[in-house]
Amino acid sequence: MRNFDLYNPTKILFGKGKIAELDNALPADARILITYGGGSIKRNGVLAQVHQALAGRKVLEFSGIEPNPGYETLMKAVELVQRENIDFLLAVGGGSVLDGTKFIAAAAQYPAGREPWEILTTRGKHIERALPMGAVLTLPATGSESNPTAVITRYATADKRVFASPHVYPRFAVLDPEVTYSLPARQVANGVVDAFVHILEQYLTYPVNAKVQDRFAEGLLLTLIEEGPRALAEPTNYDVRANVMWSASLALNGLIGAGVPQDWSTHMLGHELTALHGLDHAQTLAIILPALLNAKKAQKRDKLLQYADRVWQLHQGDEEQRIDGAIAATRAFFARMGVSSRMADYQLDGSTIPAMVEKLQQQGITALGEHQDITLQDCRRIYEAAANS
Ligand code: NZQ
Ligand code: ZN
Repeated sequence: MRNFDLYNPTKILFGKGKIAELDNALPADARILITYGGGSIKRNGVLAQVHQALAGRKVLEFSGIEPNPGYETLMKAVELVQRENIDFLLAVGGGSVLDGTKFIAAAAQYPAGREPWEILTTRGKHIERALPMGAVLTLPATGSESNPTAVITRYATADKRVFASPHVYPRFAVLDPEVTYSLPARQVANGVVDAFVHILEQYLTYPVNAKVQDRFAEGLLLTLIEEGPRALAEPTNYDVRANVMWSASLALNGLIGAGVPQDWSTHMLGHELTALHGLDHAQTLAIILPALLNAKKAQKRDKLLQYADRVWQLHQGDEEQRIDGAIAATRAFFARMGVSSRMADYQLDGSTIPAMVEKLQQQGITALGEHQDITLQDCRRIYEAAANS
């Protein structure tokens, strides 16, 4: 196992009815801005629950944060924060609202005269402070509720970029599985696939004898395989929703990634598919992951065999067959969730591969993977394999 530092300051308030405890989680005299998306929280009653919990407090709202949150939209919120002297942000929504709010938190305190887009081009390195934020999560998927990361898109230039900073960890996150009952099937599926791939990006690398991390990862994968399809079939089954929600959070809160090598190339290649074609984040992962695993079979051999054995119970056949079986089982699981891993199913023919590779190059993403051995040439081949599969 490698050395590691592990720090996660987010207080988790998990369970039925927990939104009612918001008042205790917020400073008494806070000037709060509730941030949210396109209105799902109005339709399912979550916004009303939040207002009820915050009755009598100074609360403003900013709505309209889109899926794959846009820099242009978020900068309007930054203006509002500064104009109204907001001192606490409360994000109510999915990963996009939470990520967008992390950006607002950092941009509102970014040095005057500096373009806040720089937060993205420098991946958050120069953030020295941010407004405090809390979260009410409505879509289990990204882990954004208790991690330091955000993904922001600048629509004017089709740039989708990641930043991270310890200053933007939510102070607290309310996870009430009941608020996920209203999710459309597509978002339930997206969430399960995204969380699944987060685990694999931290697990399918090479062995470092990190037994705890491996078995945590395998436990989370097995839980998602069991409970993901059930969340689609039984949308109001509380325990199913609770298990999915907690798995997605633990998948990307630092725990399973501590002390082990990590990959993240599926995410980086996937982001370009969203930036250029508007695919949902999880759809891009389902497309890229099988092609990536095929391309990196040799480097990932030992962990692929462990994955085949412990997660998919594939014990028959030679090593090659078991590895191919595990990759096929992964695809089939995504399909069972309703997320196709074929580019053609999204009306894509691969003709924009050169443009996507170019975008990676512009961002300096030229050595990906746990060995930093995935070059731009490899990225092109992986996109091509995905287009032809
Ligand atoms: O906007 P509203 O009306 O709220 O509707 C949303 C949105 O249309 C809807 N929704 C959310 N909760 C709902 C609901 N509808 C009904 N009932 C509910 N309870 O779902 C739609 C999608 O929401 P979004 O927040 O975009 O989805 P998700 O949570 O999958 O977030 C995706 C974003 O997170 C980034 C992705 O790149 C993408 O931009 N990621 C963030 C990460 C992180 N911060 O660590 C890691 C991930 O790998 C990922 O890259
Ligand atoms: Zn993801």
